[in-house]
Amino acid sequence: MRIDVLTLFPQMFEAPFSFGIFKRAINHKLVSINLHNIRDYTHDKHHTVDDYPYGGGPGMVLKPKPIFEAVESIKSDICAKEEVTALPIILLTPQGRLFSQQIAQELAKYSHLILICGHYEGVDERVREHLVTDEISIGDYVLTGGELPAMVVIDAVVRLLPGVLGSETSPLDDSHVNGLLEYPQYTRPAVYRGWSVPEALLSGNHAQIAKWRREQTILRTLKRRPELLDKTNLCQEERQLVERLTSSPNRSQLSLDKESIE
Ligand code: 6GU
Repeated sequence: MRIDVLTLFPQMFEAPFSFGIFKRAINHKLVSINLHNIRDYTHDKHHTVDDYPYGGGPGMVLKPKPIFEAVESIKSDICAKEEVTALPIILLTPQGRLFSQQIAQELAKYSHLILICGHYEGVDERVREHLVTDEISIGDYVLTGGELPAMVVIDAVVRLLPGVLGSETSPLDDSHVNGLLEYPQYTRPAVYRGWSVPEALLSGNHAQIAKWRREQTILRTLKRRPELLDKTNLCQEERQLVERLTSSPNRSQLSLDKESIE
């Protein structure tokens, strides 16, 4: 996959992609990340990227011209090198659709992505209307710019690409992939400061381990994010487990009524 990022601060992207799984993915050419400084696509002496909003008001607005020209230049570079059928052009903005594991999976299917990091008070509306094909937000809070959100989106997408996580780790077991939270994990020692690893995990019995994990997944989701269970397909046995756990004598046992999780 090739990802092109338009930003006012390309250096912000250096650290996150220089370590661990990312570094390996880039070295193995599973992904290439091309950073473009929007300022490089200006033509005036001062390299102006923003201007005052029409109608007045606080802050500055990113001008359309450098963004259009940057995207057009990237597009023609991509199309000169290979055949592309679909090329999402994504604006990172708090007004976008809420990012999720499902959207990460959707984006991981493309061979190219162009990400535009919004800034200042906003981006000229014509960029939204006539250039971008998608707008994404990473949550209901406001950040100073689209750089951190772009890194979040890139991280979530790249780890889904074939070969990136290696053969041992499967993204299929992740929290949120099946719509539920992941089960608890333990490693050695079997007893630490008197706290034991659950018996089922030490049993060596694969069926018992799978059953324990599935139950823990459901229990944990029920405690922390009960709304996720409404959207998930559970088998009849699992539904009954949820019903048993949420029926009144069990509620206190589950600490569903308490604020704390554990
Ligand atoms: Cl994509 N941009 C900014 N500036 N703030 C955000 C966001 C994006 N997503 C959540 N908050």
